[in-house]
Amino acid sequence: MSKSSANRRLGPELSLVTQIGKGDDVLVIGLTTAEDDGTPTLVIGDGLLDDAQAGAVDSALSAVGATGAAGQLSRIPAPPGLGVSSVLAVGLGAPAKLDDSEHVRRQAGVAARSLDGVASAVTTLSTIDLTAAAQGFFLGSYRFDEFRSKEPEKSGVTAVKLLVPASDKQTKKDLERAEAIATAVATARDFVNTPPSHLYPDEFAQRAKALGSAAGLKVEVLDEAALAKDGYGGIVGVGQGSSRPPRLVRLTHTAGRKAKTVALVGKGITFDTGGISIKPAAGMDHMTSDMGGAAAIVATTILAAKLDVGVNVIATVPMAENMPSGTAQRPGDVLTQYGGKTVEALNTDAEGRLILADAIVRACEDNPDYLIDTATLTGAQMVALGTRTPGVMGTDEFRDRVATISRSVGESGWAMPFPEELRSDLDSRVADLANITNHRWGGMLSAGVFLREFVADGVEWAHIDIAGPAFNTGGPWGYTGKGGTGVPVRTIFAVLEEIAAEG
Ligand code: BES
Ligand code: MN
Ligand code: ZN
Repeated sequence: MSKSSANRRLGPELSLVTQIGKGDDVLVIGLTTAEDDGTPTLVIGDGLLDDAQAGAVDSALSAVGATGAAGQLSRIPAPPGLGVSSVLAVGLGAPAKLDDSEHVRRQAGVAARSLDGVASAVTTLSTIDLTAAAQGFFLGSYRFDEFRSKEPEKSGVTAVKLLVPASDKQTKKDLERAEAIATAVATARDFVNTPPSHLYPDEFAQRAKALGSAAGLKVEVLDEAALAKDGYGGIVGVGQGSSRPPRLVRLTHTAGRKAKTVALVGKGITFDTGGISIKPAAGMDHMTSDMGGAAAIVATTILAAKLDVGVNVIATVPMAENMPSGTAQRPGDVLTQYGGKTVEALNTDAEGRLILADAIVRACEDNPDYLIDTATLTGAQMVALGTRTPGVMGTDEFRDRVATISRSVGESGWAMPFPEELRSDLDSRVADLANITNHRWGGMLSAGVFLREFVADGVEWAHIDIAGPAFNTGGPWGYTGKGGTGVPVRTIFAVLEEIAAEG
């Protein structure tokens, strides 16, 4: 392995500057599409380029056909005296789009992804939206090279200088916060990108513990003996087919006695073969991402500690490997979930809800005001909403609030219903509940209806299905490369902050 995962930098070094210095390699500027006069407009902060330089950049860009269309990249040699070797213009689309932070974040990401091998870039995109530019550059520069025997010669850009009018205290604070959030997203990506050979329940728990303790969280890890003793039948049942036993990780951030308490739960299946109800071989490798929910919860809870968010956060994270073997669950086995409800596991591939049910019941014992769980739970999420839109379910009001916040941070969550009739479709011949319905309709929703049975009365609850959004199997886009995306870290953190703000 080329780098140790513990101390690796997750993105470029970000810093604030008020002038274009000497010796940076690339100046990254924005270009919006034409309004009335027919020419695209440079978006460069006031006074950063003199008239001659701006004119030279303008004509060079029109010579190479730059239009300002969103995401379009044009790289030109820098005019003399600018102090950089080249200028990269990234298209920002229509001028009105500059008010949309996520749009700016994505275009910054597009620019960052084209800067492999560059040592130092300086950008004016921060004069439009500092936070968005910082995060777009950070996340667009994220690379995962841990398992290449030789470090690639050209990796993500090493340092990014963000031009701002003044580098005052508040601006520095804004940057620190933006970077901390992006770091949490990258931390979740790292967990997801680490292959199942190397990230199995105990290893995942140890890494969560090490990072959590370092951030000042209280950490508790239950091993397979403790899980069996305490009656975590869902986690034990799903984990029993694997030679690598399951874990339950609990991370606590304490804000104070008067603060609200938010319980977080994330699905941590380090690999999902389906178990005895085995999955087809094609695409099974995608199931390395089946701990994307757990990854996001661990990373968000660490972030909550680092930024000392004003709510108590208690994360309950079940981790197991779903394997077929002589000790695996059989379809039709009945298990007793934590808290006593019995479930007939008719399909061992509907394993996520079994480990989540245990964790949700445990989480509710802490009497939280709110509960958010997130999981790569159903292929049906992707059928319903595609690969980039998380499905948000739960209690009506909080569900809608979480979906709205998710869209406001650019993670696109969409509220989905719990149709009344689905509950009885989960009735079991022998147990309290079956883990699948007897049909395939509304598969994302019936998984949510199953989880609802385990949420304590009075708890405001949101369930975020990220089966598609957690893992990008398509081409890179915006600030998102292939593989782990870190969704929905920014959504959940924004919800925590909003709850903290209302006191
Ligand atoms: N981990 C999968 C869901 C999934 C599918 C995540 C595709 C990411 C991409 C989950 O454990 C699963 O297998 N769900 C089954 C449920 C079914 C058996 C009711 C599914 O969606 O097919
Ligand atoms: Mn499964
Ligand atoms: Zn799964």
